[in-house]
Order: sequence, then C-alpha cells, then structure tokens
Amino acid sequence: MEDRPITLSPSLSNTHSSSEEDKTVLEIWGGASLHGHVGISGAKNSALVIMAGALLCSQDCLIRNVPALADVTRMAEILSALGVKLERQGNSLLVNASHIAQSKAPYELVSQLRASFFVIGPLLARLGVARIPLPGGCAIGARPVDLHVRGLQAMGADVQIDHGIVNAYLSGRNKRLQGAKIYLDYPSVGATETLMMAATLAEGETIIENAAQEPEVADLANFCRAMGAKIRGAGTNTITILGVPSLHTTDYAIVPDRVEAGTFLVAGAITHSEISLSPVVPDHLTAVIAKLQAIGAQIIEDAPNRLRIVPGHRYVATDIETLPYPGFPTDMQAPLMALLTLSDGDSVITETVFENRFGHVAELTRMGADIRVKGTHAIVRGVPMLSGAPVVATDLRASASLVLAGLAAQGKTTVQGLHHLDRGYENLTAKLQKLGANLQRTQLGADGDSPLVLPDPTIVTTVTKPGVTKPA
Ligand code: UD1
Repeated sequence: MEDRPITLSPSLSNTHSSSEEDKTVLEIWGGASLHGHVGISGAKNSALVIMAGALLCSQDCLIRNVPALADVTRMAEILSALGVKLERQGNSLLVNASHIAQSKAPYELVSQLRASFFVIGPLLARLGVARIPLPGGCAIGARPVDLHVRGLQAMGADVQIDHGIVNAYLSGRNKRLQGAKIYLDYPSVGATETLMMAATLAEGETIIENAAQEPEVADLANFCRAMGAKIRGAGTNTITILGVPSLHTTDYAIVPDRVEAGTFLVAGAITHSEISLSPVVPDHLTAVIAKLQAIGAQIIEDAPNRLRIVPGHRYVATDIETLPYPGFPTDMQAPLMALLTLSDGDSVITETVFENRFGHVAELTRMGADIRVKGTHAIVRGVPMLSGAPVVATDLRASASLVLAGLAAQGKTTVQGLHHLDRGYENLTAKLQKLGANLQRTQLGADGDSPLVLPDPTIVTTVTKPGVTKPA
C-alpha cells in the first residue's frame, strides 16, 4: 500500500475543540410522525475491535461497512500513531500493519476511547511487547482491565502496571505467547476479544471459558478466520483458538449495528410510527424485540435482513434486566427507558453490567418522566406525556435516550453534549430527518443567540501524520 494520508469526515476528526462541541446542540420539535425506511450502519463495536485485529496481520486488510464515527477516528488515530497505514474510501477502510513502529499507544488518544486498550492483545502477539495507558471512555463505571491482564499473564506475558501504563512483554525463552486455558470470572466483551486476538498468533491451543457471546465477538472471530486464524466456538461461551505463525490479507464486511437498529425500533415505537430498517440481523436483536413486543409494539421480519415496527396505540410497563448477550443489552437500557417513561404502569429496570449507567435519568425527569433510582434499579412510572426541555447528554447511550424522548415530547427539546452522540451514531440527525422527524443541529453564534444550522458532521479533513489533523 502506498504511503497515502487517510481522509476522514469531521465526526472522524479531533478538529472540534471542546468549546465548539459545547456550543453545538440538537433542537428537536417533538410530535412528528415518522415513516419510511432507514439504513443501518456497520456495528461500532465490531469496527473498533476489528481495526485493532488488523494489527495481527502484516498484509493489507480491507474492512468494509465501517461507520463514520468519532470513536472510529480515535481508533484510526491510535493505529496511525503506532505506525500503521490507513486509507479510507467511503465506508471502507484499508489497514496495513506491515510495519508497526511503536509498541506504546499515546495516552491522549487512549484516554478518550476504552476500546483502544484492546490493541494490547494484537500488539503483544506481533511485537512481543505492548505499552498501553489504562483506558478512558464513557463515564458509565469503573471498567477495569484485570481480566485482560490475567488472561495475558496466563499466556506467558509479564504484565506490570506502572504510572498508569500497562506494560506487557514476553520474556525468557518465549518468543510467542503460549496457548492456555483461561476462565473469565465475568464474560467481558473486551477481555474475550483481547485474549482471542492474542491467541491467534500464540503457540498451541487456547481455550477461553465463560467467554462473551456478543455478535461483535463472533464478528471479530470471523474476521480473524478470514485472515487464516483457527478459531472455533465464537458466539458460544467456550472459544478454542489454535495459534498459527502468521495471518494473511483479507477483505471483510462487518455486521450491522444492532444498537443503532434497536434505537430506531424505539424511535418508531415512541412516535407511534411504522418504519422499516435494513440491513439488520434479527437474531442479534432477540432480547430487544421481545421487550418491545411485551410493551405493545409489533416487530415484523419483512425479509431476512429487514425489520418493520408496527406501533401500538398504548404501551404497558415491563421489567428489564441488563445482562451479557444473549440477555438484554446494557447499551439499549437508556433508549428503552425513554419508551417506558410513556408506558402505563411501573417498570423496574435493573442494570447489572455497568454500575453507573443511569446518567439519563435526571435529564428524562427534567422532561416530566417519573423515575426513581435505588442502587442498580430504576423504577419508571409511566406518565401521559413528556414536555420538551433543555437537557445534557452524559454518555453515548444516554444521548440516544434523550433524542428519543425529544421525538415524543410536546414542544422543543434541546440536547447538549452531542460529542457523545457522534461517538456511536452515524448521521443520526439526517437519518431521522429523512424519516420525517423535526430536528436540527445548530451552533450558537459568538453572541450566544444567533444559531447556525449545521449538517451532521461530514466536512472532509485529512490526517497527515499521527495525531495531527487539519482541514483538507
Ligand atoms: C463492550 C462494548 C460496550 C458494551 C459492553 C457490554 C465495545 C467497544 N464496547 O465494552 O458498548 O456496553 O461491552 O456489552 O465493544 N470488567 C471487569 N474487568 C475487566 C473487564 C471488564 O471487571 O477486565 C467488567 C466491567 O467493569 C463491566 C463488565 O465487566 O462491569 C462488562 O464489561 P465489558 O464486557 O468488558 O465491556 P467492554 O468490553 O468495556
């Protein structure tokens, strides 16, 4: 691959200062009916980890269906900082990690994106050394990395945490990681992915027990297998990996984003609108569909990769407990809560995956919702209506919850903190506008009272060298 710069859209760049981000708001005039069809983007969580997985291969990897998201840009910047070549064309990303110049990922980037920690597995497998700062990401809980570390140690790595940096290296006679039997205390998505990637190039067989079964884990395994890795059982709770000496070039398309799809199903339900979506993998949405049906909406599979929501006239309360896949996904807890605020009766939502994932509750309450939080439980008492209000997004899925509430509320809702939304939803404003929603992004002028209407971030910028972004 030639040494060409990657071109990225602004949601993929770090050109927005935090003050610019703070000034951009999403104005939503609630009550519009939606209709028509929406296209679902590639899965964010697949894209991020598959980009990390491309580090395992010293040849070109073409990754298709990569969404234009701020998190994807962060990951691209991290790979660039390691010396990896990337080139983006439309929604395809060509990654070439033939030469990895750095074993240390930069703190400024890793601190913004937890998924960037997942490069530790492939880096260690390729270079025998990896130095990764402890990660950041959404403010939804402590999110430790002990399971990643213990698994890598079981595979023969020396791992020490020093001044906030995880230093992992192979020492002694080991030139490669060694296959091992690893039991995860909790089926962590990230730890399963880190260890599965590390094991693809290890010597011998690795068995990961109590592995995460999320579709994105299976997607990563399919990507690795397309490069020649020997992996069985991904998508179940036991994954077996037989290490190979090297992997080869591939051309791979990632799966549709089940959380984006779920968010649009809720958008149809909460606005009492019939809309269809594709491409989707309905099996990835089983738990979400079951809850929407229990609440009173109908979900119809029009084709193997296409769903249609037929709304109910009124909705009823239901209880939800977030769990590892195939349980109800924690990433859909906040969006579903928006719908339950308008469903008759009391719903109990129990968050078991992350300890601090109720940031949206205070903001939904400002819109007239009746929600009480007791520890890991939120008790939602349905109200007849929400009213538009200025609200602030506290994390990615909280931001989606507020947008959904705004679509149904009476009057105008103004959502601040859009940098959270841009981390995980590609062109959400434009997609909702196309369905008939009444909303726009605006940036307050310097005087604070003359709004400029903005499109979803799409202006092209060029990354010329790691960590430096300038307008094209
Ligand atoms: C991934 C997803 C995120 C999703 C989450 C759960 C990506 C980029 N992000 O995050 O969108 O909400 O799965 O489906 O794929 N834990 C430990 N020790 C560890 C690792 C995790 O205690 O070493 C705990 C976490 O603190 C959390 C729980 O395990 O309480 C689940 O975390 P995990 O499955 O690892 O989530 P992520 O991979 O970070």
